[in-house]
Amino acid sequence: MNAPDPSGPAGPDLAGPEKPKRRPRYRGSHPRQFHEKYKEHQADRYAEDVEKVLARGKTPAGTHRPIMVREILECLAPQPGAVAVDCTLGYGGHARELLRAVQPGGRLLAVDADPLELPKTEARLRALGFPQESLQIRRMNFAGVAQWIAQETPGGADVMLADLGLSSMQIDDPARGFTFKVEGPLDLRMNPHRGQPASVLLAKISEKELRLILEENADEPRAESLAKALLQARQRTPIETTTALANVVRTTLPEADTDAAVRRVFQALRIAVNEEFTALETFLRQLPGCLAPGGRVAILSFHSGEDRRVKQAFKAGLRDGSYCEIAEDVLRASPEERRANPRSTSAKLRWAKRGS
Ligand SMILES: C[S@@+](CC[C@H](N)C(=O)[O-])C[C@H]1O[C@@H](n2cnc3c(N)ncnc32)[C@H](O)[C@@H]1O
Repeated sequence: MNAPDPSGPAGPDLAGPEKPKRRPRYRGSHPRQFHEKYKEHQADRYAEDVEKVLARGKTPAGTHRPIMVREILECLAPQPGAVAVDCTLGYGGHARELLRAVQPGGRLLAVDADPLELPKTEARLRALGFPQESLQIRRMNFAGVAQWIAQETPGGADVMLADLGLSSMQIDDPARGFTFKVEGPLDLRMNPHRGQPASVLLAKISEKELRLILEENADEPRAESLAKALLQARQRTPIETTTALANVVRTTLPEADTDAAVRRVFQALRIAVNEEFTALETFLRQLPGCLAPGGRVAILSFHSGEDRRVKQAFKAGLRDGSYCEIAEDVLRASPEERRANPRSTSAKLRWAKRGS
């Protein structure tokens, strides 16, 4: 069943008043599946119900709660009239705050690799009433954002943000194949129109390559036995769904904490199919050149492979004079935020400033 589109198409309806959409049918008294949660998908219409979901520490289906917003605004200190760049637009929570902070007279350039969520986010942001010209959005990988910034603001951006990884809309939608908790195609692509799904990668990868991916992308301590087991399993039946992959991992490692191992296997494959480390390294190399003198960047990362790269790039930039100041320590979400939004628990925030 398709999700009701929470943003809905705007504009005149030439066919007359639209018939209210029927809510999806579901078993039992409450919707349980992602696409059945029609109230959460229509946050504007069912604000009270959505508040109740938030109060339980959950993320309403089809939305994303921005992480460490206050801390990011403190690090970046965006000013009215400034040019801000959001390199990972997602649901637009950080973008909305940046857009607000650069008014009047400022601009936000925003990109995301995801062609499915981007139009919905753009519609939501445009409905907020900021001047239309103050928001420019492009679907692109942030590895290519330097070129766009050079065209749009040749003097460089005043503030930049990258909030790495996945949005909750992507994680929670079984059709995207990111969650191992529900049956779905083993896809794991941020842009499902590009590259190959994880099932195809898994069907042809060698045992050695798979072991390396598990070690390098997810620090998986049992990479060798998992790689062997996955290749043996695929000889019996192709691994084409999220639950099939999770079951192979679980049966290979029947002892405690197999969920953590399943999570690491998914993370390793996701990083591989999206070429996330290549994109991040390209972005980090080009970053100082994207900033105006005195410009600041903040990066939120969610696992050690990302944080290590950000930390090393900022330190190298400080040594070679590309940056004049960088975060001494990583910043973490407050205990209150972690309680309210458990997805903020693993977030690490670092910032850097280009010299004037
Ligand atoms: C954690 S979410 C961002 C959430 C956003 N800050 C908000 O407030 O809603 C990460 C987003 O980055 C996007 N993304 C990840 N890697 C990317 C890349 N290399 N280029 C462009 N977008 C990317 C994902 O598609 C996802 O939408």
